[in-house]
Amino acid sequence: MLPSVLPTEADHVSVLADEVLAALAPRPGETVVDCTFGAGGHSDLLAARLRGEGKLIAIDRDPTVEPYFERIRRTHAIKARLLHGEFSTVLAQLADNGVRADAILMDLGVSSMQLDRPERGFSYAVDAPLDMRMDPSAEETAADVVNQTDERELAGIFVRYGEERYARQIARAIVRRRDNQPFLRTGDLVETIKAAIPAPARFGEGHPAKRVFQALRIEVNDELGSVERALPAALEMLRPGGRLAVISFHSLEDRIVKQFLRREEHNCTCPPDFPVCACGSEATLRAMPRRAIRPSAAEVARNPRSQSARLRVAVKVG
Ligand SMILES: C[S@@+](CC[C@H](N)C(=O)[O-])C[C@H]1O[C@@H](n2cnc3c(N)ncnc32)[C@H](O)[C@@H]1O
Repeated sequence: MLPSVLPTEADHVSVLADEVLAALAPRPGETVVDCTFGAGGHSDLLAARLRGEGKLIAIDRDPTVEPYFERIRRTHAIKARLLHGEFSTVLAQLADNGVRADAILMDLGVSSMQLDRPERGFSYAVDAPLDMRMDPSAEETAADVVNQTDERELAGIFVRYGEERYARQIARAIVRRRDNQPFLRTGDLVETIKAAIPAPARFGEGHPAKRVFQALRIEVNDELGSVERALPAALEMLRPGGRLAVISFHSLEDRIVKQFLRREEHNCTCPPDFPVCACGSEATLRAMPRRAIRPSAAEVARNPRSQSARLRVAVKVG
């Protein structure tokens, strides 16, 4: 279902916007790919730099971004396309079709619109269907994961993607409850989590369901798998001198990006005990700067959701 009101800037505050603009620095005539269009905040800034000459390719797996895209398309007199789909698949198809890009952005995770719309089921704060799909046409919902995954694997998901301390207790309580009554709503899951953890942990830092909800969201949307698959496709699409910028909000995501950049910077495939490189492989990317860029204190104060953001930037060489 499309949003019933016209989109506004308040729908999603773009994170590290100045830093992304400085890193990607699009010039008139270039092709920019925004893999995570969302409310189009980053796209708006990047498209403005094309000054009427160039192309914006916007991707999002959530079809409700369409009104935001229409606004950007009307504002900037550039060629612009919105492609609905999972970005690793779309990038691979574009690369196979010979489409090339000068700047590619991935601003990973969910948007404020997805988090704040109760019917999407991402929030532990309101009772809603247990959904969490970024693409509402995708097969698996959070309810499917919670009702069908075996206890050990559920606990593993909560540990891996949520670093949940009481993962085993929560997984056990979920399995016990679903034997009588399957989970359909976020409220049922929140109650089960609260009842499964020791009383002091219910009143500790943050909401007691926060980590489990984050873990389920990452699992339902295969967020880490998407990034793993998308980075090589993005590299293939980039022209020499093209820029890649990735904002991640989770340490596992950031690690995937960091390791990819390191591998592409040191493309040597020689065994580690070779004294000098004999394979002749050349670096394909150069990270600039080498370390991740973090939001300023002022940005975090303005937009607390930016706190965990890490921006990594690289330039294609060769
Ligand atoms: C953090 S928001 C992007 C916000 C945007 N940069 C802005 O300034 O408004 C992430 C968006 O990317 C989309 N998304 C996340 N992972 C995706 C994937 N693997 N494929 C396609 N879209 C994805 C989400 O649906 C969401 O709309």
